[in-house]
Amino acid sequence: MSLILLALPGYLPLTLILLAVLVAIRRQTRPDSFQKDPAAFKPVPVLRHIPALGHLLYYARDGSSYYSRLCLSTKLPIFAVWTGTAKVTLIQPELAKYLPKLKNVGLNPLALDMFRKSLGFGKFSSALLQEEDEASRELGHSASRMFREEFIPGQRLRHYAEKVDGYIQSDLRIVRARLAQLSSPQGQSQQGRGAQKPEQDKKKGDGFLDRIRRLCQNHGATPDGWTDYQLLLIAGLGPNIMSATTWLVYHILNDEQLLESIRREIDQLGKDEDNVAIDLSEIAETFPLLHATWLEVLRFHGTFLAGRYVREDTTLADTYFLPKGSYALAPLTPHHYDRTIWGDDADVFRPERFLAKDGKFDPEVKKRLRVFGLFGTICPGRFLATNMAMTLAIRLFSTLDMRPREGDEFVMPKERKDTVVGMMTPDREVIMRVTRRESTKSISMTWKS
Ligand code: HEM
Repeated sequence: MSLILLALPGYLPLTLILLAVLVAIRRQTRPDSFQKDPAAFKPVPVLRHIPALGHLLYYARDGSSYYSRLCLSTKLPIFAVWTGTAKVTLIQPELAKYLPKLKNVGLNPLALDMFRKSLGFGKFSSALLQEEDEASRELGHSASRMFREEFIPGQRLRHYAEKVDGYIQSDLRIVRARLAQLSSPQGQSQQGRGAQKPEQDKKKGDGFLDRIRRLCQNHGATPDGWTDYQLLLIAGLGPNIMSATTWLVYHILNDEQLLESIRREIDQLGKDEDNVAIDLSEIAETFPLLHATWLEVLRFHGTFLAGRYVREDTTLADTYFLPKGSYALAPLTPHHYDRTIWGDDADVFRPERFLAKDGKFDPEVKKRLRVFGLFGTICPGRFLATNMAMTLAIRLFSTLDMRPREGDEFVMPKERKDTVVGMMTPDREVIMRVTRRESTKSISMTWKS
């Protein structure tokens, strides 16, 4: 009301100043909101005179974000570019619904292409992953099925979640013991106390990796071939979860208000009890903001390329020709930054977009995420990944206080521009001053359903 009165001609400058102050105050309610680097959406100048080399140079410099920017630079639903000698077909969101039905394509040959040189794959492993014959394709299908069966919610997943929790607890105990030792001489006697490793699988030879090894051996893998396959699993599966959990911690540390609210969620649970049991199957309901922050990390930094190698000539949506030996890639940026889906602030890191007005988790918004794949078979490790991230965040933020080193402000790392595979990685590490949080209660992770 008073603003309307002030908006009389003579008071206009004063009104504008007041408005500016109000905007500044409003901004301060979320001072640390983090925005995507506008360069990620900049149109790409195509070097028409040397197209193949041009794309190759840009790809070498900007990694997968180069293809994302190419897609954002055109309204074409699908188009092909030569990157060096490789033909790459880029597919936009409007054709995504046809991707699960795409025939004669494979994930392993794409993975082989990404890692063959850096991991030094031998001839035999390369042939298996290239999937040129029925037997090697069968290996891919069987391994994929084994992963899906092993990591769906149930007894086995629970076993892995407990194992990961054991490792996290063990590491945090070591950190706390070390901090106690540093702060008091008596603490020295406690050094390493409670730092036992989690229980190992008792039975030897029938673990999941043993079964995958036997599958590879049945397909003729030599000891070297099996080593290559394990390296592929480490290089292919590790970076996503490592980047995503690192971003999760960074974003929480970057925003005091978010950190406080998430701490409140954690501390309020079993407030007056010494022992709290957290049901991992109800994490989204129990810790809506923490879970929303995790999903926002996946949206915000999950801007890589979902893709397949085209084994035989094929068509997408019965219309678009994809030639044998090419690559079909669907960048996730156009999905994760589409303003019509996520709103005008799609380029801002805002976990609350995954919450309903009453602050509860909104499962409908989660369905818009494409970070676990677009081609029908989606990541079998997605449940484990979420459990790992949630367990780590709950234990970390309830056990330790982390502040920037005195005098330093927390400065959010940027995304590494040249990330080629998977989630974008931070361009540097942040060094924090870590202290123990007192009065922490004992937390156990359970799984009721
Ligand atoms: C934030 C973490 C993760 C993200 C964003 C992620 C994302 C993806 C994506 C996009 C794919 C390709 C899916 C497709 O096109 O069919 C994939 C495949 C795969 N992921 Fe994950 N992943 C994550 C964590 C994990 C973890 C922790 C595991 C461990 C079990 C895992 C196991 C796999 C496997 C085995 C495949 C290959 C599936 C197949 O061959 O059918 N992932 N992941």
